[in-house]
Amino acid sequence: MGKRISIHDLRRMKHKGEKIAMLTCYDYTSARIVDQVGIPIILVGDSLGMVMHGHDSTLRVTLDMMIHHSRSVSRGTTGAMVVVDLPFGSYSASDLPLSLGTARRAIAEGGATAVKIEGGRRMAPVVGTLVASGIPVMGHIGLTPQSIHMIGGYRVQGRGDEAGERLLAAAKTLEEAGAFAMVLECVPAKLAKRISEELTIPTIGIGAGPECDGQVQVWHDLMGLTQGMNPRHAKAYAQLADTIRGAAAAYLEDVTAGSFPGPEHSFDFDELMDR
Ligand code: KIV
Repeated sequence: MGKRISIHDLRRMKHKGEKIAMLTCYDYTSARIVDQVGIPIILVGDSLGMVMHGHDSTLRVTLDMMIHHSRSVSRGTTGAMVVVDLPFGSYSASDLPLSLGTARRAIAEGGATAVKIEGGRRMAPVVGTLVASGIPVMGHIGLTPQSIHMIGGYRVQGRGDEAGERLLAAAKTLEEAGAFAMVLECVPAKLAKRISEELTIPTIGIGAGPECDGQVQVWHDLMGLTQGMNPRHAKAYAQLADTIRGAAAAYLEDVTAGSFPGPEHSFDFDELMDR
């Protein structure tokens, strides 16, 4: 792998019409594989609270958890840009010093290149403050799971003309504040297309149709590990839950039957003495 993907590479990709793939990762081993494939952006998403830690929302995720996972992902990558989510309560437009301190820790201790923050126009001062301190910021609008109690449920956002205009205005405000890219989550495809056309920075969609500049998926959904809970916008490209279940069951059977380990997995005293 050559040099790491930069925010300038992503802007170039948008302008050349090259689609951008982003995938979440939470650990060293999977990040290494994704990096080898050449996926340009790895997101250490706060979805890790749900898929890695079993919480029912992202609200319990702490900055220390994000840093812990981000560090292992960063160690597994040489080419991909690593973006880390700032978790719920760790940043706020009404506390810019807190936001800056959080982002600095995420970058310095977590080893990421950029941070992602959720929220519309009210987050512009946070974006501006971080960018002025040299920290690239990815925005995230539409369905913002950290505001789930305000939104009232995991549902498509920006329905209707007024809500659509508000979302477009938010996207433009965040771009003006300095965001280098924008996640559009669960937004009608037509609206996502319009936002993508009107922004100069790349949009990365999830449940936002095919006309975004890029797409993001959650690791567990993509690999078929989210047992029985796949959202409509997710596509499983593998069925790893079945593969892992099969391997674990075969191992259990072998150990129980005494057929593992075989001689090829064991060390013979005479053989060792001959070396
Ligand atoms: O936390 C996450 O995985 C995310 C993506 C769904 C965009 O924010």
